[in-house]
Amino acid sequence: MSATLAGRSVRRIGFGAMQLPGPGVWGPPRDRNTALAVLRQAVELGVNHIDTAQYYGRGVSNELIHSALHPYPDDLVLVSKVGGDRDDSGGWIPAQRPEQLRAGVEANLRALEVDQVDVVNLRLMDTGHEVPGEQRADLDSQLAEMIALREEGKIGGIGISNVTLDQLRHSLPASIVCVQNPYSLLDRSGEPLLELCTEHGLAWVPFFPLGSAFPGAAKVTEHPAVVSAATALDATPAQVGLAWLLAHDSHTLLIPGTSNPQHLAENMAAADVHLDSDTMRILDAARS
Ligand SMILES: NC(=O)c1ccc[n+]([C@@H]2O[C@H](COP(=O)([O-])OP(=O)(O)OC[C@H]3O[C@@H](n4cnc5c(N)ncnc54)[C@H](OP(=O)(O)O)[C@@H]3O)[C@@H](O)[C@H]2O)c1
Repeated sequence: MSATLAGRSVRRIGFGAMQLPGPGVWGPPRDRNTALAVLRQAVELGVNHIDTAQYYGRGVSNELIHSALHPYPDDLVLVSKVGGDRDDSGGWIPAQRPEQLRAGVEANLRALEVDQVDVVNLRLMDTGHEVPGEQRADLDSQLAEMIALREEGKIGGIGISNVTLDQLRHSLPASIVCVQNPYSLLDRSGEPLLELCTEHGLAWVPFFPLGSAFPGAAKVTEHPAVVSAATALDATPAQVGLAWLLAHDSHTLLIPGTSNPQHLAENMAAADVHLDSDTMRILDAARS
């Protein structure tokens, strides 16, 4: 089950590194050895697409990836994102100006110890976050900076994240390679963006594929239709949620996040879970 991302072949199930730092994606992991083991296990299980950000933990996810996996396997595609940062108490803050995007890429290059980050997502922050005036940057100037970074060889491909349909359309001439927006069996708000990705052959890499770790978010693994399908298939609810995403559209690449070795093994095995047409119909109708 492989696909192409920025011209590289990747398995359709990758790994999201946001759950590796401490609680609230802030500070060191509760258990550093387990976090390192999870990363090594991911690669042993065939993961060759890892999603990260310098602002996860601040610096923690990238440091763990470097410690666990450097020198990296030749086929490993490292994907990061710029556009955000953390304040000193762990609050999420925007870093949207072109020079901040550049500084973000440079920080990733140093932390991961690579000459090029394979893909970097421009992560917009203008929904759900208060963006102070001095942080507002127009999309054209942001894309121009990302293109310059690509031309300089510092990034291999440009992705875009947390965008509206209009912003995605506007970004297409920059030859973007992937889109990261929230999307899951329970949150289909991104469906029009997925359709545009399909039309243009772009990788659709949903974040929060299981509903995220954030308190209050609807969890895919707790939905009755998912639990019931899992029981019938002798699979786990997480596997059903991930298998539905894989079956729903072939442009989808998964980056479920976990800090738990057992969950990681389960998530990778979701590739072997087949959902028949009746089950797909029931799951298609499920919503939060
Ligand atoms: N572009 C962006 O702005 C953006 C935003 C958010 C996230 N992301 C990326 O997307 C990735 C995925 O999103 P996410 O990690 O926030 O959320 P997620 O993958 O939807 O869910 C993670 C949560 O699910 C749990 N989980 C994972 N596998 C499980 C399993 N098999 N059974 C039961 N629970 C399971 C995890 O707990 P355990 O640790 O206990 O397994 C964690 O609480 C992130 O890791 C990050 O790389 C990108």
